[in-house]
Amino acid sequence: MTSPLNVHHDVAPLNQGCKTLSVALSGKSHSYPISIGSIGTHSLSQLGGWLQTVTTLKPTGKVLIVTDETVGALYAQFITASIKESYPSATLQLLSLPAGESAKQLDTLTTILTAAQALSLTRSDLLIALGGGVIGDMAGFAASIYYRGVPFVQVPTTLLAMVDSSVGGKVAINFKEVKNGLGQFYQPIGVFIDVATLETLPQREQLAGLAEIVKYGLIERSALGLSVLDTNQPSSQLSASSFWENLATLDSNWREAIVDLIASSCYIKAQVVMRDEQELAPATDATGRVCLNLGHTFAHAYEAALGYGTLLHGEAVAIGLMQATWLSETLGLLNQSTVKTIETLMNALNLYPITLPNHVAKPPCPEQLLQLMGKDKKVTTTGKLRLVLPVEPLGTVVVQEGVPIEAVKQVLLRYF
Ligand code: NAD
Ligand code: GLY
Repeated sequence: MTSPLNVHHDVAPLNQGCKTLSVALSGKSHSYPISIGSIGTHSLSQLGGWLQTVTTLKPTGKVLIVTDETVGALYAQFITASIKESYPSATLQLLSLPAGESAKQLDTLTTILTAAQALSLTRSDLLIALGGGVIGDMAGFAASIYYRGVPFVQVPTTLLAMVDSSVGGKVAINFKEVKNGLGQFYQPIGVFIDVATLETLPQREQLAGLAEIVKYGLIERSALGLSVLDTNQPSSQLSASSFWENLATLDSNWREAIVDLIASSCYIKAQVVMRDEQELAPATDATGRVCLNLGHTFAHAYEAALGYGTLLHGEAVAIGLMQATWLSETLGLLNQSTVKTIETLMNALNLYPITLPNHVAKPPCPEQLLQLMGKDKKVTTTGKLRLVLPVEPLGTVVVQEGVPIEAVKQVLLRYF
């Protein structure tokens, strides 16, 4: 299979078969590396040595490892052994929390903060988030507020966390039914990805992460800083073969290319975050962090309408990507042949069609979905929908304001 990784100059192979990228932030924030191990062997056993290169942790420092019960049972032993080897005099504490989105709330945050205090963690010490996006978001938030901020490292173990939530510094918990209702921007000091941990990840969770990877293909040019107006100009920022073109060669054997897919996705996300770390770019600037929202306004509406947890976030994103694509076609922003290309890829990757779980009697009605979409804080102006939509050529998105409600209704009806 063709390697889907563009040869970006800053994606360099390391000695141990790892790739490394960096997120270079200006101002108050700092830069940090993203290390991506190979699929065959567990790079977790190299974590201690890697920490010595990215942290200022003292030999007698303290480390709080926050994980969930599922991930902890599988992988905590590797990372504690590795840290003990590199820091024999350090004090290590492992905190295993219940797995799943329902744990992403204030009580669990308190449990993390209490453990940090009981360990007398200081700003010279380290917190490690080992797990999926739930653990990464929650432990990252705890790190950001404990003593006004202690250093933390993301060790993502789901595909979604590897390509999305561990990079970019959004940390949060859910609060009073509001998803990510409490949170902030707080960057990790490094991201350490052991790709081999995906071997134990349930297939449904793998596909959910894959949907976010397809999203990066659809936003690539915009994410790299090219607006739709620049598309006729040659750019050194895009290599001869784009991420999308490489994605289009994938089929159900996509796992063979997973390391390169993760590296390209992290690269694309890092470019966006470096340009618009705190989502302060104008809401209509499709090169800003808003471009990461492609398909997500639809997705959030489905998640809320069906009840959180009915669909995985990535499954809802897969639905949203198709609906955004069809909407663009309706609005004359995408050619029929391009739409077919996207449908074909999504179908080959088992991301289209997504079926609803058996217990769901019928899909949510368009009126309910539209009402929920209208509440999305990122995409609403008074009474009108503002959506991120794919446009020609593939890899480019725009932020479309005043999208006709009737056109949205039609694409909502078209899916199920
Ligand atoms: P998750 O963290 O709940 O993990 C999914 C399940 O997989 C859990 O049951 C977990 O125990 C299990 N698991 C994790 N790694 C495993 C492994 N290697 N082997 C076996 N089981 C494993 O879910 P997620 O999809 O990783 O993350 C979803 C969360 O991420 C949401 O809360 C969402 O809000 C957040 N998120 C944040 C950002 C961001 O930018 N911060 C972006 C996207 C999503
Ligand atoms: N996952 C969206 C963002 O990081 O902005």
